[in-house]
Amino acid sequence: MSCLVVDDEPHLRSILVRLLTEQGFVCRQAGNGREALRELEREPADLVISDIRMPEMDGIQLLPELRQRWPDTAVVMVTAVSDVRSAIWCLTQGALDYVAKPFQVEDVQARVRQALEKRRLILENRDYQQNLEQKVEAQARRIEELFVVAVQSLAHALEAKDPYTRGHSARVAAYAITVARTLGVEDGVLEDLRIGAELHDIGKIGVRESVLNKPAKLSDEEYLHIMEHTVIGEKILMPLLKDRPRILQIVRSHHERIDGAGLPDGLKSGDLPLAVRIVTVVDAFDAMTTGRAYRPPLPREAVFDELRAESGRQFDPAVVAAFERAFGNVALLPIATPIAVEALHDAAVAALSR
Ligand SMILES: [Fe+2]
Repeated sequence: MSCLVVDDEPHLRSILVRLLTEQGFVCRQAGNGREALRELEREPADLVISDIRMPEMDGIQLLPELRQRWPDTAVVMVTAVSDVRSAIWCLTQGALDYVAKPFQVEDVQARVRQALEKRRLILENRDYQQNLEQKVEAQARRIEELFVVAVQSLAHALEAKDPYTRGHSARVAAYAITVARTLGVEDGVLEDLRIGAELHDIGKIGVRESVLNKPAKLSDEEYLHIMEHTVIGEKILMPLLKDRPRILQIVRSHHERIDGAGLPDGLKSGDLPLAVRIVTVVDAFDAMTTGRAYRPPLPREAVFDELRAESGRQFDPAVVAAFERAFGNVALLPIATPIAVEALHDAAVAALSR
């Protein structure tokens, strides 16, 4: 343990140093507050024992600065026995104890021991608090992960009911991530994008099956009913993902159009985050290139033509261009297994680096 003894009287200083050295401290000395600060700047100490009345910078000035700059250092003040008021003031300013002059050897030793014990408890308590916070944070993250996994399995259950959209969410997520990378989206957003893309259609759980799988053109009422899946999805996810607004917005807004004619809010390009604009394009692409209850899959070229035609109206032109750069020449896989999605992703990355 290291100790700094601060006193303007060399005689008193050497008594304290001898005392504390006997207690096992490695001691340094300073003749006033300013010297003490210089010493601590050179090397902090576990304990500072300081007189109050000193020239240049006294203990009253030293204490607050000490507490602020070296909060882990235990401070014991030495006060005149008549100066109770200063002693109390020192305690309110964070000194852990005080010794009244003239002091007894045993008294100094006991006060120092007590001060160090208090310091140990304070530090332990702080470590405990910090660990606790980290643990709580880790658990909150884990709970969120488990929730997302649970919701993903719901999404897969939904897809199992509907053979036409099997693998849709996984493919949309794989496409979206690749496109986002080419557009320089940062990692924090990528994670939200992946989850949002995986879950974007989760609200279809709340859509009538007869409408969801209707093998014919939908009536206006049926169309509006199906489009409610965006809002239903947001509601399902809200309780747990309320701190992840980006994910919620992907789910709610993935049928918006940049010209403002989409659902449910008629938002325009400027109000739609890039992550949403990406999902809009890749979702439409995957829907068109895979079969639906009411139509067979469209040829790729026709789908790219359609994306280009709607570029600037339904879709963000920059996203369409990035998508075509990444996937224009990649053979698409009709049904996504995790391996197939990965292969698709790798092929797109290879295409981009050519
Ligand atoms: Fe959708």
